Amino acid sequence: MGKSAKIEFDGKSYTFPVITGSENEEAIDINQLRSETGLITYDPGYKNTGHCISEITYLDGENGVLRYRGYSVDELCQKKSFLEVAYLLIYGDLPTNLEIQKLQEDIREEALVDEDLKQIFKSFPKSAHPMGVLSSLTSALIAFNPLNETKISLKDSAGTTEKDKMYLSTIRLLAKFPIMSSWTLRKIKGLPLNYSNNNLEYTENIAYMMFAKPNQDYKQNDIIVNALNTLLILHADHEQNCSTSTVRIVGSSYAGLYASISAGISALWGRLHGGANQAVIEMLELIKNDGSDIDKYINKAKDKSDPFRLMGFGHRVYKNFDPRAKIIKKAADQVLNDLGIDDPILEIAKSIEEKALNDEYFIEKKLYPNVDFYSGIIYRALGIPTEMFTVMFALGRIPGWIAQWKEMRDSKNPIGRPRQIYNGPTHRSIS
Ligand code: SDX
Repeated sequence: MGKSAKIEFDGKSYTFPVITGSENEEAIDINQLRSETGLITYDPGYKNTGHCISEITYLDGENGVLRYRGYSVDELCQKKSFLEVAYLLIYGDLPTNLEIQKLQEDIREEALVDEDLKQIFKSFPKSAHPMGVLSSLTSALIAFNPLNETKISLKDSAGTTEKDKMYLSTIRLLAKFPIMSSWTLRKIKGLPLNYSNNNLEYTENIAYMMFAKPNQDYKQNDIIVNALNTLLILHADHEQNCSTSTVRIVGSSYAGLYASISAGISALWGRLHGGANQAVIEMLELIKNDGSDIDKYINKAKDKSDPFRLMGFGHRVYKNFDPRAKIIKKAADQVLNDLGIDDPILEIAKSIEEKALNDEYFIEKKLYPNVDFYSGIIYRALGIPTEMFTVMFALGRIPGWIAQWKEMRDSKNPIGRPRQIYNGPTHRSIS
């Protein structure tokens, strides 16, 4: 007999089962709470609420642990490519050589974006934020790939199964999203739009599409490719964060994969979430331009009456170091050193970290650097404009969103529809 939890309410006692995960996390199963007690729970921001059982990513916020399908992200960064990690997240195991070759070939087959979609892209003003552009283009993919969207729940005339369609949607997104992302960068830089170089490995190709210049021989920089590989792996999934939960809940209504991920891109854009990496660099530049007065900004962050927050610090789950931040901080040092770049804001970031980690306010509230605190410094060193930083986050998160959406559908999760406590006017008639 498993564990259970008892609730006493209105003179009655109720018992609910407790479920335990493979890492011994425990939850009260309240599926029958309302039908048995008439009660619902109230948990703004879902700080104490699990909305699914998942086998994809495990993180331990107290001990700073992050694993994809059981493998530590540190080991994956050292030994595997981003595409192999994408395969691991989506299909549950690391691919064999044959499996990764097939995935790479299938992606190459789909590595084109409809020319009409390119026209839609070109109609955006140069000033448009790339996250808004990509959310629109990803949703627009539906119009150019109807097979996978309109009949996802029915056998279509072509007789392809849902599994085939899921696979086709997956490789189309893995193929087309990097092209569209590179277009947003190239548009900002005034470069002509290009396409995949199918002779290159997946991450090498992303670097090529972003950085290749017309009428110049493209020379691959392994420092850049290796840094991108690490950053993309570290951003690939992070269990039920805001944007991933958005992808799952939109998909739970039977909206298609592209529509669900388009919603996830919009959620990630927010400065409290993926948009923080852009906000961190803007904050560091503000501090640098204000005489690098770090104490002033640490005090502003602590001042309740001041809206200023130390961007890149704090996390809903990590109450210790975000393991990704540690890896990225080391990579930032390495990349700047290898590229011979001396960026003063890296020193400002390190001074802020040192002061904050020794400050009572941050210690008491368990606020540590998160994934966004150092990542922007590497993107900057790679010549990526600040407004593109969250696009780089989304580029990494695509396989995680696909994996989570697929798991939600495979597990036949019900449509997401939270309840509420109504506190508005009681019944009244028009006088
Ligand atoms: C990501 O969930 C994920 O997994 C997300 C992510 C992923 O991979 O998908 O890891 C990616 O989004 C990382 C987080 C990036 N965001 C930022 O860096 C923005 C700055 N940080 C915060 O705004 C905040 O820490 C959050 C949004 C990250 C977490 O917010 P919570 O969990 O709702 O916590 P909170 O806002 O209630 O803060 C708790 C306390 C508050 O003080 P009190 O009201 O208790 O007195 O800590 C304070 C906050 O004022 N606080 C901060 C702070 N973060 C929290 N004070 C100053 N500076 C900060 N950065």
